[in-house]
Amino acid sequence: MAAEPMAAKARAAKQMAARKVAPAKAAPVPRPGILDIAPYVPGTSALPGTGPIVKLSSNETPLGPSPKAVEAYLGEAAHLARYPNGSALPLREALAAEHGLDPARIVCGAGSDELLNLLAVAYLGPGDEAIYTEHGFLVYKIAILARGATPVVAPETARTADVDAILSRVTSSTRMVFLANPNNPTGTYLPHTEIERLHAGLPETVLLVLDAAYAEYVLNDDYEAGASLVTGHDNVVMTRTFSKIYGLASLRIGWAYCPDAIADTLNRIRGPFNVTGPSIAAGVAAVHDRAHLEAAIAHNETWLGDTADKLERIGLTVTPSVANFLLVHFPEAPGKTAREADAFLHARRIILRRVEEYGFPHALRMTIGTAAENAAALEALSAFMSAESTGAA
Ligand SMILES: Cc1ncc(COP(=O)(O)O)c(C=O)c1O
Repeated sequence: MAAEPMAAKARAAKQMAARKVAPAKAAPVPRPGILDIAPYVPGTSALPGTGPIVKLSSNETPLGPSPKAVEAYLGEAAHLARYPNGSALPLREALAAEHGLDPARIVCGAGSDELLNLLAVAYLGPGDEAIYTEHGFLVYKIAILARGATPVVAPETARTADVDAILSRVTSSTRMVFLANPNNPTGTYLPHTEIERLHAGLPETVLLVLDAAYAEYVLNDDYEAGASLVTGHDNVVMTRTFSKIYGLASLRIGWAYCPDAIADTLNRIRGPFNVTGPSIAAGVAAVHDRAHLEAAIAHNETWLGDTADKLERIGLTVTPSVANFLLVHFPEAPGKTAREADAFLHARRIILRRVEEYGFPHALRMTIGTAAENAAALEALSAFMSAESTGAA
């Protein structure tokens, strides 16, 4: 029995290969820019072999979702034949009540990725430029290129977005600025006064997208996710997600807080039922479970600084982070490199995130996990750094 699917797979592979050898004489061609896109490569999530894995590669919460969200999700199983609410109204209302916002100006999406892409669809086209920062979240570049627009990279200072560098890249062709605050994978952030200065320096026709995927983790008084700036202006959007602190990454739920005209624009182009019923139900329950959110914030507060200190004591350098992950820099000496550390960790079934494509060939990003996961990663890294050998596993 088992041989049959294998044979079918082999047949399919052969057919695919044959198709590549003999392409059609005329074939559909993607629009300019599309084939310049390097597909987004998610963090490693599986390893060969068996046994539990310590996965600290995708900035997921070690606490998991609120049990109330899981219950609400399961409760939707009885209604799967019905389309969900087309504008995710219950979720927009819950978010509006929780954050003191106008529900009409909230647009929900299948993860904030969808909303970032929809903003690019609506506001970018060939000939337009969009700015993001040197180590900014990679989805921005993909969204810009997918529209045939031109990505413009603003250098960072000390691995942190630099307002003057962004403003100096604005031209008459600039249409958007994407800024993750805090940024992934650096974990650094700009205080609200800097965000205000950035906004004040942009022409009113340029859309400033404040991606606040990790906002809930930031405890610094000088930080704001951006809703107040959206409220007073027509060219600012804040995006948020349920994938990080709410522990609902698999359900794909994001939301954007927008000026009226931008909410209207997104509602014209989004899929009519772009957020599923189980996602809406789980999202509402998650928003209402304040205690679970507070526990996740407290857990991160306990472990973020502690883990950073311990990594430094091992001899590694850590970029100061306000999010739920740390960018860990390795020596360039053979035997101690990030690549070798990655292999060493994999052999111990621990996964951190490689970040070469973010401009960090000598770093790994570590998500804050449970106490046991953090200890396992620290112990393995300590062994790696103190090993006499080449570091090979
Ligand atoms: C800065 C940033 N923005 C957006 C996202 C996308 O989140 P979502 O799961 O909501 O699409 C991520 C996820 O890694 C992120 O790090």
